[in-house]
Formats: sequence, C-alpha cells, structure tokens
Amino acid sequence: MSTKEKGTDLSRRGFMKTTGALGMGVYLGSSLGSTKTVEAQTARIREPRKGPLHTYLTFSDDPTTSMDINLAIQRKGEEVMVYYDTAPHGDDINAYAMKCKAQHYSTLVELYDRRALYRADLRGLKPGTTYYFVAGDEKYGYGDMRSFRTLPGGNAPVRFINGGDMNIGPRNRKLLKWAGEQDADFLVIGGDLPYANGIYAEFTDWIQWFHNQDDLLHVGGRMVPLVTAIGNHETNGYETEDIYLRSPFYMSFFGRQGQGGVYHSHKMGDNIALIMLDSGHLVPHGGTQAEWLEQELKKFQHVKYKFAAYHVPLYPAYRDFDGAPSASGREHWLPLFDKYGLTVGLEHHDHVFKRTKPLKGNQVVSAGEGTVYLGDGTFGVDPRNMDDKPLHWYNEKQGGIAHFWVIDAKPERLEIKAIDEDGKVIDELTI
Ligand SMILES: [Fe+2]
Ligand SMILES: [Fe+2]
Repeated sequence: MSTKEKGTDLSRRGFMKTTGALGMGVYLGSSLGSTKTVEAQTARIREPRKGPLHTYLTFSDDPTTSMDINLAIQRKGEEVMVYYDTAPHGDDINAYAMKCKAQHYSTLVELYDRRALYRADLRGLKPGTTYYFVAGDEKYGYGDMRSFRTLPGGNAPVRFINGGDMNIGPRNRKLLKWAGEQDADFLVIGGDLPYANGIYAEFTDWIQWFHNQDDLLHVGGRMVPLVTAIGNHETNGYETEDIYLRSPFYMSFFGRQGQGGVYHSHKMGDNIALIMLDSGHLVPHGGTQAEWLEQELKKFQHVKYKFAAYHVPLYPAYRDFDGAPSASGREHWLPLFDKYGLTVGLEHHDHVFKRTKPLKGNQVVSAGEGTVYLGDGTFGVDPRNMDDKPLHWYNEKQGGIAHFWVIDAKPERLEIKAIDEDGKVIDELTI
C-alpha cells in the first residue's frame, strides 16, 4: 500500500482524547503562504546547478567537537573539499582558515545516476561554536556558504526536535518550516523518511526529501544535524542477508552514524544519551541488538536524561497492542529500559499523536519512576483518525494530529512540547 501524501486534506483528523487539561494553543509565528504555493514548490525537484547535489550533517563522534559533512557529488573521482572557519568568507575558499578533504564511500546510490557520496569528518572543533563552510570540488563547483553549530557541551541546555513518518508533501513542508524556526541543535528522525521503499523507481523522493530539509530546516544558513533511525519504508523486502541491499538508500545516506551500522548511540553533552534502534526492519529486536542496547544503557546509566528512538512503538496508539513488532519490542527492550531507567522513548510509525503515562514493568507508575513514551510519528504523513479509539490504559493523551516534538534538556529538568502543523503548541510537559 502506498502512503504517498496527496496533500488534499491539511486538516487535523478528529479530536485529541486526554486524561488531563489541554494546554492553550499558542501561535509560534505567522502562518504559511497558500497551499497552492507550497504545492507548486513541491511539484518540481530542484537539483543544484553547481556544487554538491545534497549536503547534510550527521554525527559519528563527539558532537561538541566534531561534525560530519555529507555530500553527494555528481560523479566520483574528484578531490572533494570542505573549507571552514569560525568567520564567514562567502565563496572565497582561500579565505577559510581550515580545510578538510572528504572521503568517498562506494554506495548503491551510485547505481541511480552515478552520484557519489563523500563525507568530510571535521574534528577538533570548539564546543558551542558556529562554523561557516563551503564544500565541493573543482570540476562540479562549490555550493553556497552554509554554517553549523557544535553542541555546547557540559550541562549547558540543549534543544532537539523529534519526529518521524515525514514523507515529502505539503504537510511535511509545513511542519518542517515550524521545526526550522526552533533553532534546534539537532533533529532526531524515527524512520519512514521519504517513503521511497528502498527501490530505484522512487529514488527521486529522496532528492525531494533532501531538498525539503535544505529549504526549510536551516534558517539563516545554519544547518540542523540529522540523527536517524530506520523505518519499514526504508526497506524493500529483497531476499538477502545483506542489509545494504535491503535498504540501499537509507543505509547509503545514514549507515555511518555513531559507531556505524543500523543502530547507534550518541552522547550529546553531559546530560543526554541518545540510543537509536532498529525495530526489526533490518535486524531483530533481540539477539545482538539487545546485547548492544544493554551495553549502551549500562555505559550511560549515570547520564541524567536517557532517550531511545526507534520506529515501531512499544505502546502503539493506533495499531494493535499485540502486533508482532510492538510485542517484540516489549519483550526484548522493555526490561532493559526499565532496568536502566530510560527517561523517554521516542516512538513513531502509527501516524498519530500520543503521550503515555509514566510506565515501568508494563504498568502505570508515579511521575519520575518510569519511562514516558512520546509518539507516534506524524511529521508529515496524513494522521490517522482516532475518533473511534478509546483512550488506551497507558496513554495520558492521544489524537489524530500531525506534529513534532521539541525537547529542551536543561540541567534541572526536561521541558517538552508538541507543535502541530499550524505552529500551535498542542501538548506540554516537564520531566
Ligand atoms: Fe510511517
Ligand atoms: Fe512505518
């Protein structure tokens, strides 16, 4: 079944069920232009005429002192460079104080139209610092100057955004615009990115997806690094043990985050540990992944805020609680989340809004004594109608509302809110 968005229905789906009072809606800024304008922008795919075809940022090392600049270049074979500095120098590449040669990675993306992926690993950066950069090569040219900001480090406040199930249509563009205005340090995406299903016939959806991030997510030229987990719509069902063939584009673009592979972890300053998991799409919940998860949770057990992000929810708001992937998550991961005190589980895949009560041992517990699960992945796809769904025993709130989460990790507490496609705050909590 295709879930491609047609963009005809931008209204929310039904009402939110809740056990508590809803926060007042707050506009975060002016509304977008007409739907027609947004659709016209979405209808054509614009590839840059010069410079890299895609530029995006990921983390494979300490995000307070490093940044990975990922580049798609028209053909491999060129010497691809990133010129960077703490001061902007526009397109004058010789004025930048530092440079880093990007390394070519052979990927299955080259089988689309020979575009080649490179990555420049910038290391030894200063925490909490804005760097300006220009990237490209002599043959295909250099892109426009961009910038990024390293994480502040220590216990300084960090803001990040979470969402999943994005797609490439008008609703995703509306939500991305609001997300871009949050001035976030990074974006955590919980799978189902462009819904390209790991097949070449749908590769142009990736091109549009990268374009959407580029167009809307870096306000004032500053790019927001991406931290991603895999979803079912990144895979193709091809019968092979080779996970790069089963998910050729996702693994090509995002398979080298953290320690590499499909699951990875990140320490985002003193107070935040983030564990990105595969909810059974390329590797099973249990076995090697569960062993790795325990090792990571143990390593991070004294970190104040521990987050896990993955695609299929352990506590689904729309789909069947006893569905196989959710049950498998509860069997293999939940005891570990409980044992090591996971703070927040970031869940997706169900295309609705939900916030659970604090849970431990598969029961509701007092605030501060369990894990709160936030979801369920409607960062652009059409939300499902929840009107005929009773409020689940584990949910504090649920509803068919497209949204993303903004998480402020401060030394004293987590401040979390959900924002809908009109820029309104639809939920707020502190942990
Ligand atoms: Fe999805
Ligand atoms: Fe999904």
